[in-house]
Amino acid sequence: MSKTVRYENVNKIFGLGTKNEVHALKDVTFTINEGELFCLLGPSGCGKTTLLRNTAGLDTITSGKMYYGDVDISTIPPYKRNIGMVFQSYALYPHMSIFENVAYGLRVRKVPNDIVKKKVTEVMELVGLQEELKRNPSPTALSGGQQQRVAIARALVYDPDVLLLDEPLANLDAKLRRYMRAEIRRIQKATNITTIFVTHDQEEAMAVGDRLAVLRKGLVEQIGTSDELYNQPRNAFVANFIGKMNFFNAHVVSKDAEETVAEIDSTGIRVAIKPERQHVDAKVGDQVLIGGRPEYLSVTTQASDKAVPGKVRIIQHLGSFIRYEVEVNGNISPVTFEIDMDSLQKDIHEGDTINVTFDQSRVALFSPEGREI
Ligand SMILES: Nc1ncnc2c1ncn2[C@@H]1O[C@H](COP(=O)(O)OP(=O)(O)O)[C@@H](O)[C@H]1O
Ligand SMILES: [Mg+2]
Repeated sequence: MSKTVRYENVNKIFGLGTKNEVHALKDVTFTINEGELFCLLGPSGCGKTTLLRNTAGLDTITSGKMYYGDVDISTIPPYKRNIGMVFQSYALYPHMSIFENVAYGLRVRKVPNDIVKKKVTEVMELVGLQEELKRNPSPTALSGGQQQRVAIARALVYDPDVLLLDEPLANLDAKLRRYMRAEIRRIQKATNITTIFVTHDQEEAMAVGDRLAVLRKGLVEQIGTSDELYNQPRNAFVANFIGKMNFFNAHVVSKDAEETVAEIDSTGIRVAIKPERQHVDAKVGDQVLIGGRPEYLSVTTQASDKAVPGKVRIIQHLGSFIRYEVEVNGNISPVTFEIDMDSLQKDIHEGDTINVTFDQSRVALFSPEGREI
C-alpha cells in the first residue's frame, strides 16, 4: 500500500553540543503525496542523504515528526517501516545469484517458495531483466545499468510503502543515465509506490519528478513541479539552480502597484517589472538583481541605449541552439552570462566586444541574497 510521507519541523543536528555541530536539516516541513515520484534536489552537502536516511530509519532525527500515512514513524526502527531502498553503489550481494539478491527481502519475511518465485519473476519483468533471470548469473556479470535494475527490483519485490532512491544513476554513463530516467518514471508509475528520488543533478530531477524540493544548507527553499520551479522560482538560488539565470546588479528607482522600476547599475538602463515577476519585496533604493534566462537574452553587434556591453568568451554549438558565454562588466566583478541564440550569429566571434540585450517583458526581480550556490 502506497502511503503519504509527511515531515513536520524535522531537525537533524550532527554532533549536537560539540564544536563540530552540523545543523543538517532545518525545520523541514512538507508532505509527499500517495503514489508521488518526489525529487530531493540540491548541491552536495545540502542534506539530501540525511533526510533520506532518517526517512528510512537508518538515523534518528534530533527533533520534529515524520509520518507514513497517519502513523508517526519518527522512532520506529527501519525493519518495521516497510521501505525499499536503492543506493548509488547498487550494494548487491556478489556471492548470491541475481534471483537470490532480488528474493532477499522475501526470504527474511519467510515468504513461501512458490510466492517468492512468482514475485521475483514479476518484478524482474517490470525492470526489464526477464532474459537475465533465465541465465541467473552473479550480479558481477551484469553491466552497471543492469545491476541498478536488480537493485530496484530487490527494493520493490516486497511491495514497500515507500521507495527511497539515493543518487541511483550517479555511477552510470551519461547516455544510460538519460535512458534510466525514463525507466525509473515508467517503473514508478507502474507500481504507484510513493517514491523519493535524491539527486544533485537539476536536469535529472526535472526529468524524473512529479514534484521537486530544492534544498540548500538544510533548508527547503522551494517545492513545486519542474514547470513551477523553472518559471516561478522564489529566489535567486532556486532560479540559478533550476536552469541557468543571468543576473544584472540593479537598484530600485521607483515603485507603485503596477510595476517596480529598477536601474541596472552603472548603465542607466531602466527596466519595469510587473508584480508577478517580482520575487522580492524591494523598496526604492534597495539593491536587487534583474534575472533573465539564457533564452531571454540576445547578443548583437548593434549599438543601443538598452544594451549592456560585454566580451564574448566562448561560443558553443549545442545542436538546437548556440550558447554564447559573455563576460559582462558588473559593478562587483566581471560576470559570465550564458546567452542562447536560435542560430549562429555570423558577425560575432570569440573575443569580440558586443552588446547584450534582453526581453524586458520576461526578466524578473530577485533579492541579491542567495545568488551564490
Ligand atoms: N554522520 C555525520 N556526521 C557529521 N556530519 C554529517 C554526517 N552525515 C552528514 N553530515 C553533514 O551533514 C550535511 C549534509 O550531508 P548529506 O545529507 O550527506 O548531504 P547531501 O546528501 O545533500 O550531499 C553535510 O554538511 C555533511 O557533512
Ligand atoms: Mg548524498
